Amino acid sequence: MNTPLALIGGTGINQWPGLEVVRQHRIETPWGPPSAPLIEGRLCGQPVVFLPRHGQGHKIPPHAINYRANIAALASMGITRVVAIAAVGGIADWFPPGGLALPDDLIDYTSGRDHSYSDGSPGAPLDHVEMTPAYDPELRADLRLAAAASGVELCGEGVLGVTNGPRLETAAEIRRLQRDGCDMVGMTGMPEAALAREKQIAYACLAVSVNWGAGLKGGGSIHAEIDASIQRGMAQVQALINALVLGAHAST
Ligand code: HPA
Repeated sequence: MNTPLALIGGTGINQWPGLEVVRQHRIETPWGPPSAPLIEGRLCGQPVVFLPRHGQGHKIPPHAINYRANIAALASMGITRVVAIAAVGGIADWFPPGGLALPDDLIDYTSGRDHSYSDGSPGAPLDHVEMTPAYDPELRADLRLAAAASGVELCGEGVLGVTNGPRLETAAEIRRLQRDGCDMVGMTGMPEAALAREKQIAYACLAVSVNWGAGLKGGGSIHAEIDASIQRGMAQVQALINALVLGAHAST
């Protein structure tokens, strides 16, 4: 199978609209099973693999996702490029609900997650992978081109703060993230990005703002905000990704 691009879907994308399913792959890895069978399919006629990060039916919370199994399963299928879709809270003024952004760096605030293949177990590698740049520059450039080609506006690029969840942050925690330089906050960006780097997979994140970070604006319910903006954001994600797979085809 020749499918070098994979899409990891987050909140709001448990199934990929328009994806023609070719085959489902149930994969066991040394770290256990991934969140769901990997879906080999075609999007706009182009081969892609899709993995819903939270599992079928969106049941796995961010801190309980088996990130090592997910990335190892993708690697075992020969995947070399991953675009990770992440619903996030906007912190920077430029990143309102419904908007899309390309994170260019991250800060990891998570804890207690199995975050590396270098875990000291017998036979495990001992890698100190570099995380600078945090995301693959070429894949990010392709995503920028795809945004332009599809007419989808990217609000900006910036730093993703990754919190443990599943609870949302307090207003004081969001102010701290802001002081740290975070432009957006999500719960699934790590260890996913680092594990992809360990497996030498080109990885980029496409972030969709679905709410303002706690306490920043409005003062209403965050869940109401998410409900109001998630479909709009995900429709734009699909348009952008369609352009990406078509562009990827043209250049290979
Ligand atoms: N915080 C953390 N993760 C999130 C948020 C948020 O406000 N919105 C969507 N994912």
